[in-house]
Amino acid sequence: MEKIKTGIVGLGRLGKLHAHNIAFNIPYAELLAVCGVVPEEVVTVQKEWGIPYGYSDFGEMIQNKELDAVAILSPSPFHVEHIQMALEAGLHVFVDKPLGINVEECLKAEEIVAKHPDQVFMIGFMRRYDPSYKYAKQMIEQGKIGKPFLIKLTSCDPENTIEGAIRFGASSGGLFIDMTVHDIDLARWYLQDEVEEVYAIGGSYVHKEFEEYKDADNALALMRFKNNGMAMFHSGRNAAHGYQVETEIVGPLGSLRIAAEPYKNLCTIFDQNGVVKECSQSFQERFAEAYLEEMKEFVQCIVTGNKPDITAHDGTMNTQVAFSATQSFHEKRAVKL
Ligand code: NAI
Repeated sequence: MEKIKTGIVGLGRLGKLHAHNIAFNIPYAELLAVCGVVPEEVVTVQKEWGIPYGYSDFGEMIQNKELDAVAILSPSPFHVEHIQMALEAGLHVFVDKPLGINVEECLKAEEIVAKHPDQVFMIGFMRRYDPSYKYAKQMIEQGKIGKPFLIKLTSCDPENTIEGAIRFGASSGGLFIDMTVHDIDLARWYLQDEVEEVYAIGGSYVHKEFEEYKDADNALALMRFKNNGMAMFHSGRNAAHGYQVETEIVGPLGSLRIAAEPYKNLCTIFDQNGVVKECSQSFQERFAEAYLEEMKEFVQCIVTGNKPDITAHDGTMNTQVAFSATQSFHEKRAVKL
């Protein structure tokens, strides 16, 4: 079978990880071209991995007639432009979150996607592809806990990445848009419902630098869904022990808890520090399998002609809820969607 010839734009923190998966870990895919604005990134990847084509201009890359698909891992402000260019060039498109940097942009992206129904379009909210999160979804669908009515979500980045977060502060869009958006996607996915009202609070409790951007280092949000489901969120940037993501889904017959303690693996160390379980230190480590599985799903959809379950509309809704949470935090009041 012919491999799906794929190009990738963006070779940064996440782009390089996806590029590696496409090049080496997905049997039906081939990494044919890479694009980035930093020439050394492009040349290094080409040389080290033997990638035939390298570009500094996305417009040039998509003119390559050998390509079937592109993965868009450029900075978020370029997403909609790159989606439009790639779909109009006839390519299948994977784009990592967010769909666009505001709701208007997301709606524009939805429109463009709708004009290309025969091309696969997929947005990357990778937690849906993590084996434990996927399993929890199956449990719900099998009725194990009844129809869930409450979901509690925690996402904390480690303190050891705080310098990058501060540097990125001016352009990140804030904690809800940058981080909580993954939890918002999970809440909508598990409750199968849309948010009606949100109330958010927070502050810069540890790193005052975030105040300059009207942002927070720790924040809470409480949401009510249209069918009266509830969700509570804690997002933070300074977990001392490492990267912590945990989720609890509550239904009338029981509850499901994913990663109550953020273990790196099943190994326990017994030494002078006591009995130690190590913790994941980054999103790349915790969700390595999820990033691979979502890209496999994208390629699989191209091969089979199926559509991914996650849609451009999910991208819009996640962004809209994250913006409403940000608005609630800024205005110190509940916001209706
Ligand atoms: P980064 O800043 O580390 O890398 C950006 C890359 O884009 C660089 O290779 C740069 O050369 C390239 N680039 C910049 N401007 C460009 C342009 N005009 N044309 C072509 N290439 C350009 O960024 P990072 O952290 O890898 O984020 C990329 C995207 O991935 C963002 O949209 C971000 O929201 C998303 N992301 C998603 C995560 C998830 O968990 N799903 C985690 C981290 C990032």
